[in-house]
Amino acid sequence: MPRHVAVIMDGNGRWAKKRLLPRVAGHVKGVELVREMVRACLERGVGYLTLFAFSSENWRRPQDEVTLLMQLFVKALEQEVEKLDRNGVRLRVIGDLSRFDPHLQELIRRAEDKTAGNNRLQLTIAANYGGRWDIMQAANRMAQAHPERLGSWSEADLEPFLSMHFAPEPDLFIRTGGEERISNFLLWQLAYTELYFTPTLWPDFDTAEFGKAIASFQQRERRFGRTSEQLTEPPNA
Ligand code: IPE
Ligand code: IPE
Ligand code: MG
Repeated sequence: MPRHVAVIMDGNGRWAKKRLLPRVAGHVKGVELVREMVRACLERGVGYLTLFAFSSENWRRPQDEVTLLMQLFVKALEQEVEKLDRNGVRLRVIGDLSRFDPHLQELIRRAEDKTAGNNRLQLTIAANYGGRWDIMQAANRMAQAHPERLGSWSEADLEPFLSMHFAPEPDLFIRTGGEERISNFLLWQLAYTELYFTPTLWPDFDTAEFGKAIASFQQRERRFGRTSEQLTEPPNA
């Protein structure tokens, strides 16, 4: 079982369009699938689930759609946090939150505080998140913390400042909706992650579809630069 699954939930707009519905109907349906995904991770014992909900580039969308996405986010926080807490889910939101409405920022802070003691599932929502932004904010904070090491900073110096510092790197990355790209998601952390792309649109990505992604992951050989033979030898042989 993957310990950490990271997902780009894509295809809401196309799902709605196929049904002659407004794009926002796809986002509403998409929230339901998030609920299902969380349940599936709890059942399967996946420890970390990280979901890309809104990229730093998504502000470029029509104002109406951005507004509705924000409203959905607020509504989800108001309605779901209690249940997440009861189920032992710790919620975090990563990204540049300063651009969000103060009320939304406050809801996020409260949800994070309320669930801070939970550890059955670490659910992370990436919102106004960009992988490049994350690396740069970490680099800036690292430079401030260790000016004396200028010129010799290491990966280990940077890592504590990255937004996902609390989690192991994703084992499995899933992108729904048919596009085969990373779209500025977790750039640093995906270095050795198994990538799974499916044409299934996010609102159709049910538990069975998730099962297929996990089955694909379980068939892969993760070599981390080694040879296949080395993996079957006992350690230190
Ligand atoms: C993903 O679905 C949700 C967000 C980016 C918020 P899209 O809205 O990108 O759906 P498509 O790609 O247009 O179908
Ligand atoms: C990526 O989806 C971001 C989220 C799912 C939140 P997009 O639909 O915005 O990505 P592009 O524009 O197709 O790369
Ligand atoms: Mg899209």
